Amino acid sequence: MSETVRIGVLGCASIALRRTIPAILACPQTSLAAVASRDPEKAKQAAQRFGCDASTYEELLRRDDVDAVYVPVPPSLHLPWGLEVLRAGKHLLLEKPAATSADEARRLVDEAGARGLVLRENFNFLHHGQHRTVRELLAAGRLGTVRTLSAAFCFPGMPASDIRYVPQLGGGALLDAGVYPIRVAQLLFGADLRVTGSTLRIDPARGVDVAGQALLVSGDGVLIDAQFGFQHSYGSRYSVWGSTGRLTLDRAFTPPATWSPVLRIEEQDHVEERVLPTDNQIENTIRSFAQAVSEGRDARHPDEADYGAQTIRTAELVDEVRRLAVRVESS
Ligand SMILES: NC(=O)c1ccc[n+]([C@@H]2O[C@H](COP(=O)([O-])OP(=O)(O)OC[C@H]3O[C@@H](n4cnc5c(N)ncnc54)[C@H](OP(=O)(O)O)[C@@H]3O)[C@@H](O)[C@H]2O)c1
Repeated sequence: MSETVRIGVLGCASIALRRTIPAILACPQTSLAAVASRDPEKAKQAAQRFGCDASTYEELLRRDDVDAVYVPVPPSLHLPWGLEVLRAGKHLLLEKPAATSADEARRLVDEAGARGLVLRENFNFLHHGQHRTVRELLAAGRLGTVRTLSAAFCFPGMPASDIRYVPQLGGGALLDAGVYPIRVAQLLFGADLRVTGSTLRIDPARGVDVAGQALLVSGDGVLIDAQFGFQHSYGSRYSVWGSTGRLTLDRAFTPPATWSPVLRIEEQDHVEERVLPTDNQIENTIRSFAQAVSEGRDARHPDEADYGAQTIRTAELVDEVRRLAVRVESS
């Protein structure tokens, strides 16, 4: 294997061009072999911009100089293209949500295991140090016994042609934004979460959910509410409330690399604001993926198996939110 993990990008997606490719180029453990597009001109322009080869999707998967493929296509195409990548013998960094259902998530994780390859769902926030600090505080009992988690990821609407408004492409606020507060509940309060109720606000003209909320409970009784949508001013935060204090973290899911997180802890007669170090969660994600590949791990390695199990669990919880949802029309 080469000194770097050689990555191919399948689809000139906005997130790839703006964030992920610059991180691949910045990370000493990775190099960019080629970018692929359905449109040859688009692939050529991206290749010129980032100094790599241009390709079609099919050619990318046949290249011997590609060790791993980053897939940022619309969610309903994650299963077919994810399977193609794995069947071509390449490691897979798959954009969130990895799948549009738990069945699809299981098929992807099983395929990676059977082929001896790494599969990671590209949840960048998991690789920001601010959540480690939160977990340490919770483990040290700083808030007493935790009673509730309130988490939200909401932002304004997008242009009408956006993939998030197309049901056939796996659009909708639950799959796009709702997976963040659900995943942070998994991170902080474990795998034994259950969904106890949910609401989805549906845009009747487009047939997709544009906002919603889910109520969950953890195995040890933490009550959780998750808010999500793209009909709001921007908000990306969570708050954990315990028997002796409350902690709030703003910009929890998509903090820029230059952002100094402020962790606010409120107790009786005392408020503390801790300014945490900046962190580049996108570069951290790429580095961690490359490390797993270069160590020769595959989806059966204990740490990778945990990633896979979390990916499947998120998809199961999303299925459950959909199944239980009270649907209301968006005005
Ligand atoms: N991790 C994060 O922070 C983050 C942030 C934003 C988005 N995302 C995820 O990244 C994925 C892409 O999001 P995005 O906002 O970047 O979307 P986007 O700009 O619309 O990109 C999607 C890309 O998929 C390719 N594609 C293949 N088949 C397609 C089809 N039938 N219709 C439309 N596009 C098709 C296109 O590339 P070609 O035309 O070049 O083939 C297109 O550029 C989604 O899963 C989203 O949830 C993750």
